[in-house]
Amino acid sequence: MTAVGSKCKVCKGPAVIGLRRHHAHFCAEHLQQLCRRQMAKAIEDFDMLSFDDRILVAVSGGKDSLAVWDMLIEAGYQADGLYVGLGIGEYSDSSGGYVRRFADERGLNLQTVDLRDDYGFDIPTASKATKRVPCSACGLSKRRVFDKAALDGRYDVLVTGHNLDDEAAVLYGNTLRWDIDYLARQLPVLPATNGFPKKVKPLIRLTEREMAAWCLVRGIDYIVEECPIAAGNKHLVYKQSLNVIDESSPGAKAAFYLGFLDRMAPILQGRSAAATGQLHDCERCGSPTTSTVCAFCMLIERSAEHDPVPVDMVLPKRARKEIS
Ligand code: AMP
Ligand code: FES
Ligand code: ZN
Ligand code: ZN
Repeated sequence: MTAVGSKCKVCKGPAVIGLRRHHAHFCAEHLQQLCRRQMAKAIEDFDMLSFDDRILVAVSGGKDSLAVWDMLIEAGYQADGLYVGLGIGEYSDSSGGYVRRFADERGLNLQTVDLRDDYGFDIPTASKATKRVPCSACGLSKRRVFDKAALDGRYDVLVTGHNLDDEAAVLYGNTLRWDIDYLARQLPVLPATNGFPKKVKPLIRLTEREMAAWCLVRGIDYIVEECPIAAGNKHLVYKQSLNVIDESSPGAKAAFYLGFLDRMAPILQGRSAAATGQLHDCERCGSPTTSTVCAFCMLIERSAEHDPVPVDMVLPKRARKEIS
């Protein structure tokens, strides 16, 4: 990441990072200034947060969510953390450790939910029991646990650490499938509605690389390993494809996603299932759903009937071979 011999665009001091999208290098101080400004612009443009809000930040132990928690606290917001133990073997044990240390060292308030202890299942088991790919069972479970924790704790808003690379990759996938419902919902702010808290993504203008640099210059220790069962999933392939494009046309990734928000999202407004009134209450938990029983209640039911599945059973084939 160091930009040996290069000078900061702002102060001409030694640079720590070169950002081709901005045609410039930055020192540690001015990299932080850039990150603060980009987050502030996202918050302001989309009316994400106010200083009176009680904020709950979903923190995974990875660089993005720890960075956004750090940035919000530094900017003067009132933000507690939420960690969800997903039961993905050593990966979950280790990521939980990073979150707890971050919170303890700074005296921040951290809430934890453990899927096995609190809901009676874990991600490997849910994946097998529902025949969903692990990331789909995981995404569904996380969203619902986040919603419940934010509502139960009477928070005004839930923050996630999704960054520009994440959002561009999701947009790429949704566009390849022309999934209008998902495209219409792919917004950096989802307002509070019956049964859902307000949800926001303050890092949409910042890349993975910038967030890694933020953590480095701020001394934030985070889990570097990726989730073992996510290896090789489509989301990562979309990210790599966009990186190849961005390498030859710097800024193309940001233009793709930010251009979507600016010019396409307004056209799709009102086209999602929620907006067209196709949702009703789940007969078990009351959450909004398009079916009689929501996908999360089905997942809980099927997983509870299933014997616990060890994480090795859901590793992608290549990772399993390497272990054996
Ligand atoms: P991912 O779905 O893993 O790309 O993560 C997206 C965002 O969800 C992260 O930036 C966090 O804000 C949040 N998140 C992911 N995993 C967890 C977890 N185990 N506990 C709490 N928040 C999480
Ligand atoms: Fe969800 Fe890996 S963190 S499948
Ligand atoms: Zn500088
Ligand atoms: Zn339900």
